[in-house]
Amino acid sequence: MLCRGVRILSLHSVRGRNLLYQRKKMTSGEAPLHDLIKPLGWLLGTWRSEEGFGHYPTIKDFKYGEELQFFQVGQPNIQFSFYAWHADTKKPMHREIGFIRIKPGTNQVALIGAQNTGLAEVEEGHVEGQEMKTETQTLARLSFGTPPAIRKISRIFKRNGDVLEQVLSMETENTPMTTHLKISYQKVN
Ligand code: HEM
Repeated sequence: MLCRGVRILSLHSVRGRNLLYQRKKMTSGEAPLHDLIKPLGWLLGTWRSEEGFGHYPTIKDFKYGEELQFFQVGQPNIQFSFYAWHADTKKPMHREIGFIRIKPGTNQVALIGAQNTGLAEVEEGHVEGQEMKTETQTLARLSFGTPPAIRKISRIFKRNGDVLEQVLSMETENTPMTTHLKISYQKVN
């Protein structure tokens, strides 16, 4: 009871309000960009598309929508979430969250991601100007994951003004490296 009282009082104090303000700034992406991730600053923000195109030799072509968020809190990493939905029904589909890091003093990047399908992955690659290319270095999947097993993923993100393009290719146990997704997002925030 006493602890709760102290906490409420402290949130109403000048220091408490400053702390809250700082925390809000950090979580809303207003924190100063860490020097190490400045080469990836062009990714930051919210990107959205209703015009994603999906293809793979083993499935029917499909359309989808997706929103990407890239944000930072002053640490040397960018946090991301990718949320896709069905083009017609708008039902949630593929979802992925993770972080992007840069090897200090280089243009070498690592993308560390977890997918709702049960895949966890580290991709590595490079950033050159406003283009980032990565491919799988390490991959883990559920012991009860749905086949076919993924062997490798490769992605290219490229920004051109307020448009961000992504091309994602994958190799499975049955199919060699082939493009699965092509999508152009508009910057919405
Ligand atoms: C890293 C990201 C992704 C990976 C690794 C991945 C992986 C796969 C795999 C392995 C398959 C089955 C292919 C086969 O049967 O040979 C598949 C199918 C499919 N994927 Fe993805 N996918 C990804 C992202 C997405 C996204 C963003 C969407 C957007 C909605 C999507 C929609 C689909 C659809 C609709 C199918 C066909 C499902 C079916 O016919 O049952 N995928 N994906």
